[in-house]
Amino acid sequence: MTKTKIAVFASGTGSNFESVQKEVESGNLDSEIALLVCDKPGAKVLEKAEFYQVPTFVFNAKQYNSKSEFEYEILNELEKYKVEWIVLAGYMRLIGSTLLDSYHQRIINIHPSLLPSFPGKDAVGQAIAAGVKVTGVTIHLVDEGMDTGKIVEQESLRVIDKESRESLQLRIQEIEHRLFPSVIQSLILAGNMKGDPLYEEKSAT
Ligand code: GRF
Repeated sequence: MTKTKIAVFASGTGSNFESVQKEVESGNLDSEIALLVCDKPGAKVLEKAEFYQVPTFVFNAKQYNSKSEFEYEILNELEKYKVEWIVLAGYMRLIGSTLLDSYHQRIINIHPSLLPSFPGKDAVGQAIAAGVKVTGVTIHLVDEGMDTGKIVEQESLRVIDKESRESLQLRIQEIEHRLFPSVIQSLILAGNMKGDPLYEEKSAT
């Protein structure tokens, strides 16, 4: 069976990139990371990509006049690597219409809160500041908004009394590293089946 090619977009440490790549290497995913797209030259995730020998496309948004200009370049790279799905893992930019139109319903994001609570930056800090007793992780389809797309999966955890931001973030990331690969696997399988005329026929009867 040919593996579905995904691109991971990331701007930071890349622990989620690594957890997905590890599952790929263990044979637990019917997909492979064909490309890492990164908008932060020097980001830690790039060292991880080098270690796992995943090709990278790195860009600096300041060198372009508009979002569509750099998204067209990204699109070229995605086509070159025959990428079918985009997985956002700590990519700190909104996706524009150039990519959204080309990858309709095929872009997913992971966010460290139970959306719609605490969208945007520092969701873990926002949860601590709000004093919530329960928070968690959300995986959702990406639309033009800030963490507003259709929710695909969520997992909650209880905040410990007087818990620090660091401790909560660590516990949230443990969930992310387990949940993201498994949701990628089920989403991609379902998405591929939908594109399969045999599946369409079967589900119509
Ligand atoms: C994760 O917590 C993810 O939920 C958020 O950005 C963080 C990325 O962390 N969107 P890492 O770079 O994968 O370690």
